[in-house]
Amino acid sequence: MEKYYLTTPLYYVNSKPHIGHAYTEIAADTLARYHRIAGREVLFLTGTDEHGQKVAKAAADAGLAPGEFTDKISGTFKDLWRALDISYDDFIRTTEPRHIAAVRAVWQKLEKAGEVYKAVYSGWYCTPCETFWTEGQVLPEGGRTLCPDCKRPIERLEEENYFFKISGHRQWLIDEIRRAENFRILPDTRRNEVLGFLEHNALQDLCISRPKSRMPWGIPSPLSDSHVTYVWFDALINYISAVGFGADEKKLARWWPADAHLIGKDILRHHAVYWTILLRALGLKLPRLIFAHGWWVQGGEKMSKSRGNVIDPVEIAKTYGVDAFRYFLLRETAFGQDGVFSEEAFILRYNTDLANDLGNLLHRTLTMCEKYFDGSVPAGVSSRCAGELKEGVDLLESKLSRSLEKLAFSDALAEIWALVGQANKFIESSAPWTLAREKKTGELKVVIVSLAEAIKAVAQALWPFMPSTAEGIWRQLGIAEPVAKASFKKNLWGYFEKGGQVAKGAPLFPRIETKREGLR
Ligand code: MSP
Repeated sequence: MEKYYLTTPLYYVNSKPHIGHAYTEIAADTLARYHRIAGREVLFLTGTDEHGQKVAKAAADAGLAPGEFTDKISGTFKDLWRALDISYDDFIRTTEPRHIAAVRAVWQKLEKAGEVYKAVYSGWYCTPCETFWTEGQVLPEGGRTLCPDCKRPIERLEEENYFFKISGHRQWLIDEIRRAENFRILPDTRRNEVLGFLEHNALQDLCISRPKSRMPWGIPSPLSDSHVTYVWFDALINYISAVGFGADEKKLARWWPADAHLIGKDILRHHAVYWTILLRALGLKLPRLIFAHGWWVQGGEKMSKSRGNVIDPVEIAKTYGVDAFRYFLLRETAFGQDGVFSEEAFILRYNTDLANDLGNLLHRTLTMCEKYFDGSVPAGVSSRCAGELKEGVDLLESKLSRSLEKLAFSDALAEIWALVGQANKFIESSAPWTLAREKKTGELKVVIVSLAEAIKAVAQALWPFMPSTAEGIWRQLGIAEPVAKASFKKNLWGYFEKGGQVAKGAPLFPRIETKREGLR
């Protein structure tokens, strides 16, 4: 069976998750579900990044020991993923023994290959970004020195550390990125950004440790009792530690390279430059794809806990439903671009796309099944007299796979909604109520069967995005879930040749009339 290994970043456990984190996770879940029903064996990895100065500080502020604190916050991520129907296969915590062992194995392998050395690090460090900055990169402002990325004050470090030799890796990486065969960076804007960085900057060797005396909350380096691993160096290794690096060669060979690393655009360089170079130094293949998505912004700024402009995904999902939330995040903006989350925009999409277009299509169709055919999809309509919706149904799966190959979630949803729109128009143009009045039962049957086939196809295509909505539709159409999933890749049309019994339920998406108090 073909495999598909996809990963999300490991989220820092300095505070509870917001919609920025939920975004990567929902996108990854959609992709994982899609590849599963397309017949692949999927490994969907997520987890939490638990070491480093930022987490240590958050634990101290909360008055807890780091381990106690990270257990608690890591648990809130797991709870949220459960609530959002995230079907991850593995959740890795960087404090787990399997990960620690892999990080230590990486240190040892690099040392043996002569790739690490000790020297004095003299430069800047941004704790919120957990990033080292050189003198030339930082922003001096009014007597303070700010991080060039997050614009917050940073501290000066002068300490003995270990370095990983990366300066000689520039040219092959540029060539690989340009070639874009086995290793792609998407969207193109991000690929160009990485190329620009590599072409205009000399690569500086990467500092990969911190002195234990200053920052004890990290994985001890096997090369020195007085150093721990720099948090980014520790965290990136998760993508191979979870698949057995240093412990299970067979597992590693099965899953590596990753098919897709989903990340936000703020952590592109760590992945596209440092991670790829580390892989090469370890003699491992590069991932097939790094996709850097955009940010959810509020008031022109990236949504983040420290800026105090976050929206709580739990609240949104509780108020409007998990699937509506999943739909909005993936439909509203193209995956590579920034998006603005507002409750007005959310309600508009909910009422228009979900309540009106999709909800009404199902409701009207099932009402006609009840009214004209005793609650059934009538039998005896050959799939050969298919009606005008068949072409849209037949093409849906290939359109979906073309869009999802590029992680164009919004386009994929637009394709599905094009069929929903076509089916709604078909009801108007075929006027089944007139056919019923004029007792044209044969024609009426074709109309109802066509609609049932189209809705079934819509639900199948929708399942990766909105699993419980799709399952609800199948239930109302009287289709068993395993049957619907199994037939995803086959010709979608023809299921109702023998008819079927429907079970109309409550509307999927009751209209929202008023905005809830308190949300932006
Ligand atoms: N721990 C590192 C990643 C290590 S991966 C080996 C980290 N963690 S994070 O919690 O700060 O961010 C995790 C992911 O959430 C990143 O991909 C980041 O881009 C994403 N988001 C955080 N805020 C976001 C928005 N406001 N909008 C969209 N995604 C953003 O970085």
